[in-house]
Amino acid sequence: MGLDFILDELKSLKDHALMREYKTIESAQGPYVQINGKSYLSFCSNNYLGLADHPKIKQAAIAAINQYGWGIGASRLVAGNMILHQELEKKIAEFKSTEAALLFPTGYMANVGAVCALVGREDIIIGDKLNHASIIDGCRQSGATFRVYPHNNTSQLESLLQRSSKYRRRMVVTDSVFSMDGDTAPLPEIVEITQKYDAILMVDDAHATGVFGQHGKGMIEHYRLEGKIDIIMGSLSKAIGSIGGFIAGSKHLIDFLKNKARSFIYTTALPPAACAASLAGLTLIQEDTSLIDKLWENVRYLKTQLSEFISNISAESPIIPIIIGSAEDALNLSTRLYENGILIPAIRPPTVPLGTSRLRISLMATHSKEDINRLINTLKPQMAQIAQKVTI
Ligand SMILES: Cc1ncc(COP(=O)(O)O)c(C=O)c1O
Repeated sequence: MGLDFILDELKSLKDHALMREYKTIESAQGPYVQINGKSYLSFCSNNYLGLADHPKIKQAAIAAINQYGWGIGASRLVAGNMILHQELEKKIAEFKSTEAALLFPTGYMANVGAVCALVGREDIIIGDKLNHASIIDGCRQSGATFRVYPHNNTSQLESLLQRSSKYRRRMVVTDSVFSMDGDTAPLPEIVEITQKYDAILMVDDAHATGVFGQHGKGMIEHYRLEGKIDIIMGSLSKAIGSIGGFIAGSKHLIDFLKNKARSFIYTTALPPAACAASLAGLTLIQEDTSLIDKLWENVRYLKTQLSEFISNISAESPIIPIIIGSAEDALNLSTRLYENGILIPAIRPPTVPLGTSRLRISLMATHSKEDINRLINTLKPQMAQIAQKVTI
């Protein structure tokens, strides 16, 4: 009795190839990482521009530690609001073309905090079926009626909005780039529909920030939707190479969240050095878009190479999934790649629906053509061995 159920559940996870375990990285995050003293070519990081280990970002963090120390010791509203938080929020607002922005310790907390602050029992929140777990958790915790529409199905979204006039507030929430499929939401259409029904629109731009748009400002820049999205969420932990999450929007929205978002209010502020690193990351992107160009060059190259032996490769973003099917097959393939010095963990349920376990390849600007060729040369014979027809 007591905690005995844990052993049963762990056994069941192992039996179904669903046990999650992590590898321990002994080096900086880059295209190559060291594990157990051996070098592995990594295709599983959200460090899209390779900034996590960029000299300018490291220098900025070190300088901030020297000036402000490391820890904060308080939440923003108590005594943890430092000058670098303010500077970073100003920079994010400018980057996202909004009036203001608010930092959260992580993107996860930004999503949960914003959703729970904005909707409650009298409201409805409508989201894409493949939205990120942090949005789903926010929707569930908010107490609002929560409905999902089939992935990217805007006519179903519209029909849910049509049938939701009895609610006090109606909010629509979608990822701009879907984290496990790498495809993108039809944002212009979603904007039009939400405006038609006078609903609030929240967009999670975590994987588009630093990647999409001519200046890396995200999907809002890509589609020229400045001023048309009520709530823009983003993460500083992916292409920006740092840590933290944010909400960008009107000044009123930000003032409201400062007062109502529990995951902002009841937690210690980000360390100033993390803010300095994010500021440096955003500045780097603003000053030089060549890393973004290189990232997209890699996406196009990998797509061409993969398409030669896998049908229907969709490469709308640097996240390129190869759907395998069963968790066991995906895990076996990942293990064989690992034995050949390539790191791509298998993504399995509950992160993705049953029967769609996959390898989620993610590319970085710092991958070379030789790195991509090595992936292809290792993957190709392994894929040939998988009897099941592979579809994306
Ligand atoms: C779409 C999406 N939203 C939000 C998050 C959470 O961001 P963070 O890692 O900064 O907590 C992630 C991260 O995995 C994500 O993929």
